[in-house]
Amino acid sequence: MPERKSIRELIKWGKEYLSSKRISSPQVVAELIAENITGKSRPYLYFDDDVYLDEKKKALFEKNIRRCARKVPLAYVICEQYFMGYRFFVRPGVFIPRPQTEILVEKSLQFLQKLNKTHPEKIIVVDIGTGCGNIAVTIAKEIKNAFIYAVDISSLALEVAKYNAKYHRVSSQIKFLAGDLFSPLSNIPIQGKIDLIVSNPPYVEREKMRYLPEEVKKEPDFALDGGKEGLSFYQRIIPASTRWLRGKGVLMLEIGYNQAEKVLNMIRREKEFANSPCLFYDLEGNARVISVAKK
Ligand SMILES: C[S@@+](CC[C@H](N)C(=O)[O-])C[C@H]1O[C@@H](n2cnc3c(N)ncnc32)[C@H](O)[C@@H]1O
Repeated sequence: MPERKSIRELIKWGKEYLSSKRISSPQVVAELIAENITGKSRPYLYFDDDVYLDEKKKALFEKNIRRCARKVPLAYVICEQYFMGYRFFVRPGVFIPRPQTEILVEKSLQFLQKLNKTHPEKIIVVDIGTGCGNIAVTIAKEIKNAFIYAVDISSLALEVAKYNAKYHRVSSQIKFLAGDLFSPLSNIPIQGKIDLIVSNPPYVEREKMRYLPEEVKKEPDFALDGGKEGLSFYQRIIPASTRWLRGKGVLMLEIGYNQAEKVLNMIRREKEFANSPCLFYDLEGNARVISVAKK
């Protein structure tokens, strides 16, 4: 890279370098890295064409571009990901929130807002596999009388989730618990009292793990690997949830694009669920969320 360069020139170099390594949207990636380092929003990066980074920041810009070129996810490089319009801190070792999970949260919020009209007391929610806390924090921000128990097996994820809850000032509405699925709830007297169980569990088929894009392979296996058929978490969550939900409480699950039929069959086997599970679709027409109420 030539010696002295303006932000604009640095972005141009970054874009060309990323493009030569076949990274998609190289311009946007270079701009987001510049935004992250300078603290300036994108339009200002272009107005200030005579602004130069000091040596340290210039080296960081170059390092971050090279990390993206090696297929480290951008969210890990800039340590953040937006979800439902909120900013979440993420770091390597923790799952990066995906746009499709916004469907799960939108449907959860719709259910909770409706519930609020008839049931304005405290609402109890459980988020299984909370990751960086994106689902729990968004629900807490949007539903002020919700209290959320957010469980994860990874202590690193919980550390990040606690940070995000603090950042968004909702720590008093969320209890973070370490452990396997429902087991950390066993000492809390909420059995049969939960209004909503929400989960985006790992659901990638084991066989497909090695064909995932390089960027996705940089995320932790335990956040993606759903066992042989990708269904092992649904096989455990679905039967266990009826014990925890109150009557008319809802289970809301994100599913893989081709898993609807199999997950529906698991739900139909549980006689305590109502007969009418609902499917919600992404823009490509794939069912990505299943919701079902307890009788
Ligand atoms: C697909 S990520 C979802 C993260 C976040 N909820 C989201 O939607 O963006 C699945 C999460 O489940 C957690 N997890 C994996 N196995 C678990 C288990 N047995 N019990 C609880 N959490 C688990 C992982 O650590 C990971 O954070």
